[in-house]
Amino acid sequence: MNIKDKPILKIENISKTFQNGTQALQNIDFEIFKNDFILIAGSNGSGKTALMNIIANLEKPSTGKIINNAKDFNINPHIGFIFQDADSQILGETPEEDILFGLKNLNYKKEKIKEITNNVLKFCELENKKHFPARLMSGGEKRRLAIASMLALDCEILIFDEPFANLDWKGVKLVTSLLKKLKEEGKTILILTHEVEKVLALTNRVIVIKNGRLILDDSTNEIIKLEKSKWKELELHYPLTEYKTLDDLIW
Ligand SMILES: Nc1ncnc2c1ncn2[C@@H]1O[C@H](COP(=O)(O)OP(=O)(O)O)[C@@H](O)[C@H]1O
Ligand SMILES: [Mg+2]
Repeated sequence: MNIKDKPILKIENISKTFQNGTQALQNIDFEIFKNDFILIAGSNGSGKTALMNIIANLEKPSTGKIINNAKDFNINPHIGFIFQDADSQILGETPEEDILFGLKNLNYKKEKIKEITNNVLKFCELENKKHFPARLMSGGEKRRLAIASMLALDCEILIFDEPFANLDWKGVKLVTSLLKKLKEEGKTILILTHEVEKVLALTNRVIVIKNGRLILDDSTNEIIKLEKSKWKELELHYPLTEYKTLDDLIW
């Protein structure tokens, strides 16, 4: 097998039934290749976060498994997860402290730690917040800090759950410009969201889940040809919408 044909991450036949009997995921099966930028779209309750938690090993699947082949590509197998709730992910009192928290077990020299911290804060446009109380940062800044902390750990595979949740227009623009830079750096990226239009242009592939089942998996070039009525069936907002009249603003 050519290494190029080998997936970096394999989501193999994952099903998840919670203790109360809710079947959140059914036979989810797909492969992620190096440098993929994949959107996993689905309406509220479709199973996106359940899937993220299984990939992050926070939850065990009822059946199926996650296969991580990153080592075969000589890249860091440690996946960077950016959760929807940034507060739960930020452990330090300040951005600097939060990044140091992640680096502390890596036995790097002081100088290297300083260099990494400054680099990732700059990349995420947080250099002027280095010593700012993290709890006072805006939602967008907190999300960017979560990304900076993952980049400090040299994560090559990054998974984002609802990265646009609760962000204003400027916040969304900052996150999308960051995602674009990460893509240009050659990271492998998976975005789970219902906000298709905010990220579709960066993707090469789209997977749609509905009621815990994978119902569509195709290239972005094909997905963009879908009729408006098909998007409705997928329970997703048509991404090429144009607003021309007041009535158009009512979804
Ligand atoms: N711990 C849990 N126990 C029972 N049901 C759950 C639990 N977590 C999520 N669910 C259910 O699983 C389904 C998928 O949820 P989730 O993955 O959070 O959806 P999404 O992230 O796509 O909005 C929903 O029906 C949700 O209510
Ligand atoms: Mg969710």
